[in-house]
Amino acid sequence: MKQLTLQIPISVYDYEELSAEDRALIDQAKEATRRSYVPYSHFHVGAAVRLSGGEIISGSNQENAAYPSGTCAERTTLFYAGSQYPTQAILTLAVAARNEQGNFLDSPIPPCGACRQVMLEAEKRFKQPMRILLYGTSGVYEFGSVDGLLPFSFDADAMR
Ligand code: THU
Repeated sequence: MKQLTLQIPISVYDYEELSAEDRALIDQAKEATRRSYVPYSHFHVGAAVRLSGGEIISGSNQENAAYPSGTCAERTTLFYAGSQYPTQAILTLAVAARNEQGNFLDSPIPPCGACRQVMLEAEKRFKQPMRILLYGTSGVYEFGSVDGLLPFSFDADAMR
């Protein structure tokens, strides 16, 4: 038997330490939480992406009485970016969330598994790493690529 250990590098920043570009993207994600439609969970999530052409797209979670029909903020945003700007790579994705009390989470928001899989496809599609910034009031986690969020992942290469 041998054991394999995966190490995941995560850079942890104070918001103020980030570049103006990254802060602007996080601000857009925070702003997008205000446009969530969350009558069931009351959990407001916002996401924003910076595209290779310089555009910023944002989106929020949109729920439905038939719960699985709703969509997370990350997928709303990534699918919108893909449908409006199909030739542009996504350079950076920022995510922020507010709880039922309306406060931004203290710890960085961890994206759900389905969104991580969609992030992976968005990254692979353009063959360039997509940075991810997860906002919390106590700090911001930066992942250099989706690999960190979804290690040992399944993608099209796994079928060959
Ligand atoms: N949600 C997101 O939008 N993104 C995440 O990363 C985690 C969960 C949404 C889905 C649902 O509308 C609500 O948060 C509660 O799960």
